Amino acid sequence: MERIHFKPGTMVYPLPAVMVSCGETPEEFNIITIAWTGTICSDPPMCYISVRPERHSHEIIKRTGEYVINLTTEELARATDWNGCRSGKKFDKWKETGLTPGEAKIVKAPIINEAPVSIECKVKEIVPLGSHDMFISEVVNISVNEKYLDRASGKFNLSAAKPLVYSHGFYFGLGKKIGKFGWSVEKKPRNKK
Ligand SMILES: Cc1cc2nc3c(=O)[nH]c(=O)nc-3n(C[C@H](O)[C@H](O)[C@H](O)COP(=O)(O)O)c2cc1C
Repeated sequence: MERIHFKPGTMVYPLPAVMVSCGETPEEFNIITIAWTGTICSDPPMCYISVRPERHSHEIIKRTGEYVINLTTEELARATDWNGCRSGKKFDKWKETGLTPGEAKIVKAPIINEAPVSIECKVKEIVPLGSHDMFISEVVNISVNEKYLDRASGKFNLSAAKPLVYSHGFYFGLGKKIGKFGWSVEKKPRNKK
């Protein structure tokens, strides 16, 4: 089979589409949908988001040096898309989407109460890359919605929240479970005699 070549572009998919909340006071609290995000270090835990300078949220995050990455779910898909299509310059996105701000533990930026996971971040470095500025940040706290805690095991069950996936312009659910970390190299248990 021949390979078809595309011009260089953004093709690392699928990704999570997250809702990033920002702002220091309720009057300026805002939400921006972000797909250019990820983990970049385990210890210390660090994440990044890449934001175009023309976004309303860019000014807020640059000035305050803080934001919260809120994971999204199938149920939050509509709000996620809306917050990625309208600007806080013109709309109160909380009022429009019905999402509610909650108090974060460490940062002044709000968490989104309806999100299953909220990752509080403090900006360490801003790297101008071209179309986007990359905010490299340290994770300073994580809070999860207790409804996804398995009471018996005490473990957090992210799959139960039905996380939202973004792939090449479309939103999807997770699909079926294939295996767990390391299953491909796991030794089979010996048969007992
Ligand atoms: C699925 C999706 C992913 C997006 N990812 C990004 C992103 O990574 N960086 C960015 O600057 N804008 C991204 N956007 C666009 C912003 O969310 C959008 O311009 C938003 O209206 C900006 O809001 P604000 O002006 O209130 O900050 C994305 C939009 C959608 C729908």
